[in-house]
Amino acid sequence: MDILHVSAECYPVAKAGGLGDVVGALPKYMNELGHTARVVMPMYRTKFLYANDWDVVHKGHTNMGNWWFEFTIIKEKSDKLGFELYLVDVNGLLDREKVYGYNDDTERFTAFQICVLDWLNAWAQKPDILHVHDHHTGLIPFMVRHCLKYRSLAGIKTVLTIHNAQYQGWMPWSRSILIPQWDMWKWGMLDWNNTINPLASAIKCADIVTTVSPSYLAELRYMSNGLEALFEYEKGKCIGILNGIDDKVWDPREDTYLQHHYSIADLEAGKAKNKMLLCDQFSLDFDKPLIGFIGRLVGEKGADLLPQVIGDSFYYIGRRMNFLVLGSGFPEVEAGLNALKPLSQYDYNVFIGYNEGLSHTMYAGLDFLLMPSRVEPCGLNQMYSMRYGTIPMVRRTGGLRDTVIDIGDVNGYGICYNHASVQDITHAVWRAAELYHDKEKMHRIRQHMMKLDFSWETSVKHYIDVYAALVI
Ligand code: ADP
Ligand code: GLC
Repeated sequence: MDILHVSAECYPVAKAGGLGDVVGALPKYMNELGHTARVVMPMYRTKFLYANDWDVVHKGHTNMGNWWFEFTIIKEKSDKLGFELYLVDVNGLLDREKVYGYNDDTERFTAFQICVLDWLNAWAQKPDILHVHDHHTGLIPFMVRHCLKYRSLAGIKTVLTIHNAQYQGWMPWSRSILIPQWDMWKWGMLDWNNTINPLASAIKCADIVTTVSPSYLAELRYMSNGLEALFEYEKGKCIGILNGIDDKVWDPREDTYLQHHYSIADLEAGKAKNKMLLCDQFSLDFDKPLIGFIGRLVGEKGADLLPQVIGDSFYYIGRRMNFLVLGSGFPEVEAGLNALKPLSQYDYNVFIGYNEGLSHTMYAGLDFLLMPSRVEPCGLNQMYSMRYGTIPMVRRTGGLRDTVIDIGDVNGYGICYNHASVQDITHAVWRAAELYHDKEKMHRIRQHMMKLDFSWETSVKHYIDVYAALVI
């Protein structure tokens, strides 16, 4: 089958979170099964862009409302990522340094989607499947069905994967002028609660909708930021497929970001060396268990609870553990975490910012990884941490529920709790501190986790089955 993934992120070209990881890996594994999967994304100003060679494959001009512009599609020459990678260049609009966060994001991603479909219009051999990811590409299923200029694409099947339903790309009806002329009778396919809602539109118009874990799909039917009724109505075409991880990139034996590599055979020594690096860099006490957090400092991830959890843990449990936080996000959360620094007695530190290298050293050097998420569609961090022998401490929600079994249950290896509350998380910290002193048990759990299989090889087959059901 011939599949074109359309996405705002793709690792290592541009990544703001797990969406990038998934789109950077999934197509590679589809190709390994003998299919042809490609990726098209916006051309941002990234290191990857300047460090690689490109061919111009298409030049066009188009319009978005009354704004006419030219665009160029370039292709990475060597297919070094394991798939053909195409970038859409719209001068001044897409070629920015960050992926998101600009006032004109609506215009940027609408223009991106229009360019992709204009380009496809010119293809002699169309793909079998257009696979779109999240709301940034959510207008595509509507546009291929109902925009007059894309009639030649109407036969292509569309699949939407929802990585995060919290953000829906809402735009007021006054912006409908941005969308190429469509059959006006179909306005309802764009609308949700009197607003153009690209995510809702994609749920209505795509042939199949997937979510990145089965439990997340079940949760969306009662908690999806206003789309609950839609998920209930469309449940017949929704399916939950758990993400995998790219275990070739995330491998403690050869991870290029690690100074000290290790395998199951020498995991204790290898993890200790990485922990020592972290303790030196962040003035932490090597002898105490090291509990870390890596991620966006936002409410979804429960990051706002961290300052109080850390303070309460020291107060109620004693200064028996270290905490290290890596992330950026809400300024109040960043300030709360920074404010704890002067109180550290060689047992707390925080790095505000995005740092891929440090995250890898943390997955390797931490003893425990804390994920108190309120919402977690899948979560990749817990799978990375397990691959590196680091015990996840997760709230039972979404993909965390589907991937981590509590140490109190049969064959368990993680620490799980039910509520994203300071009390529940602090209790989990206490359990971690207790577990840490049972060296033999820690070792058994680490070994067990490192053998677990969260690779894409399994998940990718479910996607292929979904496509196959559409392309008969
Ligand atoms: P989400 O996509 O919701 O942020 P995921 O768990 O799916 O959550 O993926 C997060 C990805 O982003 C992981 O690869 C994680 O290591 C990475 N990440 C998040 N924050 C940072 C950061 N501050 N520095 C480095 N990597 C980060
Ligand atoms: C989203 C979700 C995260 C998931 C990732 C990749 O960003 O928040 O839970 O792992 O997408 O699918």
